Amino acid sequence: MADQLIIFDTTLRDGEQSPGASMTRDEKLRIARQLERLKVDVIEAGFAASSNGDFEAVKAIANQVRESTICSLARANDRDIARAAEALAGAQRSRIHTFIATSALHMDKKLRMTPDQVFEQAKLAVRFARNLCGDIEFSPEDGYRSDMDFLCRVLEAVIDEGATTINVPDTVGYAVPELYGHFIKTLRERIPNSDKAIWSVHCHNDLGLAVANSLAGVKIGGARQVECTINGLGERAGNTSLEEIVMAVKTRRDYFNLDLNIDASQIVPASRMVSQTTGFVVQPNKAVVGANAFAHASGIHQDGVLKARDTYEIMRAEDVGWGSNKIVLGKLSGRNAFKQRLQELGIEMQSEGEINTAFARFKDLADRKSEIFDEDILALVSDESVTREHEFYRLVSLSQHSETGERPQAAVVFAAGEVEHSADSDGNGPVDASLKAIESKVGSGAELVLYSVNAITSGSTESQGEVTVRLQLGGRVVNGVGADPDIVVASAKAYLAALNKLHSNLERVAAQG
Ligand code: KIV
Ligand code: ZN
Repeated sequence: MADQLIIFDTTLRDGEQSPGASMTRDEKLRIARQLERLKVDVIEAGFAASSNGDFEAVKAIANQVRESTICSLARANDRDIARAAEALAGAQRSRIHTFIATSALHMDKKLRMTPDQVFEQAKLAVRFARNLCGDIEFSPEDGYRSDMDFLCRVLEAVIDEGATTINVPDTVGYAVPELYGHFIKTLRERIPNSDKAIWSVHCHNDLGLAVANSLAGVKIGGARQVECTINGLGERAGNTSLEEIVMAVKTRRDYFNLDLNIDASQIVPASRMVSQTTGFVVQPNKAVVGANAFAHASGIHQDGVLKARDTYEIMRAEDVGWGSNKIVLGKLSGRNAFKQRLQELGIEMQSEGEINTAFARFKDLADRKSEIFDEDILALVSDESVTREHEFYRLVSLSQHSETGERPQAAVVFAAGEVEHSADSDGNGPVDASLKAIESKVGSGAELVLYSVNAITSGSTESQGEVTVRLQLGGRVVNGVGADPDIVVASAKAYLAALNKLHSNLERVAAQG
């Protein structure tokens, strides 16, 4: 009989630690519902003690998502653990994930603790957590660079204290597949009570090896839980991609011989939702979820696929949710059809007023764009001026003029709280002129560190442009996303969305470092 591989999604915690990917409570809740539809086993909803906002997000997810186990991260101290337990109180099934660094480098330089102190703190933390929750995961941070004898001592002790899952992070993405696989195997062989816990892998992608390392941890090491994120979102080069792990294990079941609970047809919708919410665009050639992942451009490949699909395709696009972007609504669709589609997409509006605002936006879009896809609807509701979260700046109108040989000009009207501002500027192009006009009034002083434009739906110039703007100010990095058939308008919306995030003071404690 095949073993079960547990999929532990940490998009909302490790993924959220990517610069600028921080999400609001409602955004996290929407993604958590999609993860539930995807049937992930465990959702790491956040790090409850890191901020009031994250506490509320974990709590809301714990109260509303019933099918997956809901987990909160906690440093190995009583305050963090108690806060995690409090946020998780309403969950159907909950897990506390506590961690402390065990590598010599981290203990000495970061924690300034001796190995004996770390050993004691890890034990006490698990003992305390176990009194609050029956499902406890322990992670030795920077585990892969830790001394094997010390790691065995710590892990044996925390299993004795009641840890039910042991997760071995390659925190800095230093591992290579064979060595990581054997590392897990050695731990399991040397620790006398290792059979009392489920072993888990958590790999970062600094060398582009996160998925390969995780799979080696499963195949060679015998791990039965993989920690991963949608689109591989995560600090620096990211984390292990959920979609790649799932499709590798499913497609090569002959080799892995493992069962999964995942409903793969929900992968592409999840990928789109995460990228639209965070502003982290998916590269076109990304496995499984990239726009080109199933596109055959060369004549030889096209010919082969037409004759027999499996000549060049090892997976079917529709099995991972491609093709679900059929035209769903149009100009003549009514409020009820719109509301129903929102429900089908798992989008819950807080009030009838919000639905009315979103519906008005939808009608406006349908006047300018004949076919409305799910992606358009998701972009529309991701727009903060619809959900009215953290909305201080709002675009009122924009006009711009560009002509060959002339310097482009833009005039922007936007609201800042209750006050309306008009601003004009010239610029290198109409986008530059529009953003400069806004900045001339706001005077944020933020540095623009990323600007990217993407078509929301492919195949036509009618498609909406989705713009991501990343701003940096005094150590804070935020992403703003804006969508509109006019990319200059989308750019102004994205800029204002980023300014709104800078405007809202979300405090946060880093999980690492
Ligand atoms: O990468 C890491 O070490 C982590 C731990 C907190 C599990 O994310
Ligand atoms: Zn991590």
